[in-house]
Amino acid sequence: MTQIAVLTSGGDAPGMNAAVRAVVRMGVSQGWAVHGVRNGFTGLIEGDFVPLGLRDVGGIIAQGGTFLGTRRCDALKTAAGQAVALRQLHDRDIAALVVVGGNGSQRGAAALSRGGAHVIGVASTIDNDLPDFDVTLGTTSALEVALEAIDRLRVTASSLRRVFLMEVMGRDCGYLALMAGVAGGAEAIVIPESTVEPESLAQEIRAAYQRGKSHAIVVVAEGARLNAEQLAAYFAEHAERLGYELRITKLGHTQRGAAPGLVDRMMGTRLGVAAVEHCVAGHHGMVLGILNGQVSAVGYPVLKTDNRPIDAHLLEVAHILAR
Ligand code: F6P
Repeated sequence: MTQIAVLTSGGDAPGMNAAVRAVVRMGVSQGWAVHGVRNGFTGLIEGDFVPLGLRDVGGIIAQGGTFLGTRRCDALKTAAGQAVALRQLHDRDIAALVVVGGNGSQRGAAALSRGGAHVIGVASTIDNDLPDFDVTLGTTSALEVALEAIDRLRVTASSLRRVFLMEVMGRDCGYLALMAGVAGGAEAIVIPESTVEPESLAQEIRAAYQRGKSHAIVVVAEGARLNAEQLAAYFAEHAERLGYELRITKLGHTQRGAAPGLVDRMMGTRLGVAAVEHCVAGHHGMVLGILNGQVSAVGYPVLKTDNRPIDAHLLEVAHILAR
């Protein structure tokens, strides 16, 4: 009987469970044995495999996080760790391994692919930093959390005429901050891809109040040159001159803990289905994601794992739209 395995790796992302569910149910429909690997590449190296049947994935489509568990795994960055992982797959006669994860995880998966394993990746990270695809699995649900937070912050900010700095995740990629800022109607957006000096930010806030606004929401990416705390420290240091009382809300991991919305449930499902269909066709050595609305496969040797270039036009019009 053909054996396949599936693991989730790196930061959990809403929709990972939908992808695993689809891999299991599609795999079983082929008459294959499907194994889950617990805790990402760490579990792979340790041989922590668990057989997964139809009922084992019941109800998980609605759950955030990953029921298989995940880890950041430094061992897989080493040749020794990769050799152990490859041996685990070989000894269990695993015909294909599906790796659901973001750019770091797909780099690890690429190493296993180069080492001879048949690997198919599913692009999944809230950071959306796999630029070969439109949007990665989990990003949209994480953005919904950020939007809800902005909407709530505006209520209290308006009541007290306050300035809020809302920091979002994204590592060194400003995508989450830009999207949340534009869709949330933020007065200013601070991202790693564009330098914003505290003085010009203060000027933007002042201008917003002068235009009659009763609040100012600044969305700050955690990877920006100055993060929310550093910006707030600057404003505190120059409080007399700048005159604003800032409050910081750091969304942090709450964004990752979102329940998957429609977009991510469907995306996880489509990508998990496609992963098994590629296995059936004998394809491997590729990452699957959504490009132009369609499932698209990008080979590991050419996969881009650096940040996506920011949409400069959107950033520019964000200033106009915030007026
Ligand atoms: O890569 C996903 C992500 O949530 C980033 O946005 C964030 O910088 C990082 O993971 C946090 O990692 P950890 O959960 O290991 O603290």
